[in-house]
Amino acid sequence: MGIPVVLDCDPGHDDAIAIMLAAADPALDLLGITTVAGNQTLEKTTLNARRVCTVAGIKDVPIAAGCARPLIRPLRVAQDVHGESGLDGPAFGEPAVDVTGEHAVELMHRLLAERPVTLVPTGPLTNIALLLTRYPEDAARITEIVLMGGSTGRGNTTPYAEFNIHVDPEAAAIVFASGVPVTLCGLNVTHQALVTPDVVARLEGLGTELGRVCAELMTFFGATYRDLFGFTSPPLHDPVAVARVIDPALVSCVEAHVAIETLGEHTSGATVVDFDGRLGMPPNARVAVGLDAPAFFDHVIEAVRVLSTVD
Ligand code: RIB
Ligand code: CA
Repeated sequence: MGIPVVLDCDPGHDDAIAIMLAAADPALDLLGITTVAGNQTLEKTTLNARRVCTVAGIKDVPIAAGCARPLIRPLRVAQDVHGESGLDGPAFGEPAVDVTGEHAVELMHRLLAERPVTLVPTGPLTNIALLLTRYPEDAARITEIVLMGGSTGRGNTTPYAEFNIHVDPEAAAIVFASGVPVTLCGLNVTHQALVTPDVVARLEGLGTELGRVCAELMTFFGATYRDLFGFTSPPLHDPVAVARVIDPALVSCVEAHVAIETLGEHTSGATVVDFDGRLGMPPNARVAVGLDAPAFFDHVIEAVRVLSTVD
């Protein structure tokens, strides 16, 4: 049996691939998918999770919707990056999988009661912070939290804040202060996971409907990343966090103290990564610094291939 994981996501083009990787890789046992407002509204991210599971043939993983807005701040979505639907590009039919009806926090709490679970958040950390606040006893049952968010350097939403942390800095502060082992997969490493034309060709080369859908998702994502950020190829952020759980050798990390800026007028949402101990605080996180990109993309392509063969 694989490592028990729950993916907490805001699909989102890169979240969509993260769902497929988490569902298909034999190293993992995807117990649940929870959704949060982020890239788009909760209604849209939840519909998108259902759409991805439908097109990928992921029928036996419970999906539960979570928080519709950050803990304190108003919701900010990323429609400029992911489109009006949050998953623009390919056309999706009616989803064939539904949500369980329970809140995301309740699904995570229920699964944690049965066995320790690794949580993999790839959106704002609102659901995770709410879980830790509502059920503080669950902290001891979380194996680790391996998240996509933050950066050891510049941000992508403000000069020093990455989107997932910027949307809900208070939630991130709760997570990093929780004492649960946390691994931060930030922009400094996810920008090494560029979906080049060769990767898109490999998806198309699968010759399957799912491969075509993924290629179309990456083509849309690539266009917005080119227009907004000047990237020649889009970074596949979220699957990097999943890859770290699959095989830690894929994503190298160092230990450091990470402080979350919640008050800064210009820096709110910044992940202040203190590699040299300048703040006099002990390390509270593993921080991703390197990616084996060829091996990473081999896992991604294989996941799409495996799911394409599911009837
Ligand atoms: O900054 C990148 C992150 O924000 C990714 O998780 C992307 O899906 C968006 O949620
Ligand atoms: Ca995301």
